[in-house]
Amino acid sequence: MAAPRCLAGFLAYETAKAVVVKSWVVGAVNRAVQLLILSYFVGWVFLHEKAYQVRDTAIESSVVTKVKGVGRYAGRVLDTADYVTPQQGTAVFVVVTKRILTENQVQGLCPESDPRYRCAADSDCGSSGRAAASGVLTGRCVSYNGTPGACEVRGWCPPEVDAVDAPVMLEAENFTLFVKNSVRFPLFGFEKANVPPGATAAELSRCRFHPARRPLCPILRLGDVARFAGQDFAALATAGGVVAIKIAWVCDLDRAWELCLPRYSFARLDAGARRSAASPGYNFRSAKYYRWPNGTEYRTLTKAFGIRFDVLVHGSAGKFGIVPTLINVVAAFASVGVGSVLCDLILLHFLKGAEHYKARKFEEVPEARLREPSAGPTALGGREMQSTDSGTGSLGL
Ligand SMILES: *[C@@H]1O[C@H](CO)[C@@H](O)[C@H](O)[C@H]1NC(C)=O
Repeated sequence: MAAPRCLAGFLAYETAKAVVVKSWVVGAVNRAVQLLILSYFVGWVFLHEKAYQVRDTAIESSVVTKVKGVGRYAGRVLDTADYVTPQQGTAVFVVVTKRILTENQVQGLCPESDPRYRCAADSDCGSSGRAAASGVLTGRCVSYNGTPGACEVRGWCPPEVDAVDAPVMLEAENFTLFVKNSVRFPLFGFEKANVPPGATAAELSRCRFHPARRPLCPILRLGDVARFAGQDFAALATAGGVVAIKIAWVCDLDRAWELCLPRYSFARLDAGARRSAASPGYNFRSAKYYRWPNGTEYRTLTKAFGIRFDVLVHGSAGKFGIVPTLINVVAAFASVGVGSVLCDLILLHFLKGAEHYKARKFEEVPEARLREPSAGPTALGGREMQSTDSGTGSLGL
């Protein structure tokens, strides 16, 4: 008889007993909280945040850039091969707007140009072999441009003097930048490019990007890029700087393919470094090497100032998915139950007659007296109470 009883206990279904409170205050609070939670889930979580979608944030992107324009600089006419570096059309490139050239440098001995290496006697120049600004010290003090003297160095001579005023190629303001960007969302196999699919080459070459009027034109004027980034082009071209062209692809792939569009934004990236007086702006040095007919090597050193453009692509795409939908629906229903915590708090602590409700909600059962000889009626109206491991009272039939 014991085994079937045990089985019957196992197969019995337990459900919690509910206490219905006929109080319109608690009832109204309960419904209001439920409505609040439901509208939060429907409005914000589902409609605004699109929690029913699977999201792909691992965007794959390729960027090809091309700068066009002709500028005049120091008596020469420069084209894109002269002022853009590197020339491969990468996502990060520099438009050189100012140059300090040091021509015909050869390996040899010459006085150091850096003012820290002025001297009156050999003893001021320290030991030979030490590195100076543009070469290795020989330990001698030699005359320099009529001044008493400068320490002699071995290196590329004559050394660069960069404390000079060089002109700035302000025409770069009118140069255009063509950004070709293709993106892919691998999770959905979705591909798109920033070049409008129907546009002809002629249409494309005429358009200029504008955030309100031409937000999809992939050709940008460099002056506009600086302006949209909140910068003064002339100041940027003089000291150099780093400007980001950000392309954001935030796509809802449940909607039409045409509606997945890039959004451009601009920012100065080296804004923090710009405030430091020690090294404002952006510049770099490079050299080109040649040989005289007699075999001697010489070079032209360039200290270039320019605007570095970083094309940064980011984005995410979402598409309906059954798993996130189920998870969030379950979370929404579970959260509706949170309202009862608040209602219990009001019911049992703040409402008039709280003691009365408390007595009805929590039944007190005295400790079972095991030594009682007869299994007589208990405190609970003569019905037999069994304690099960789940902690809820079950009515054994
Ligand atoms: C850029 O082009 C405009 C219009 O063609 C012209 O007025 C302006 O002077 C140009 N800017 C520079 C710095 O040459």
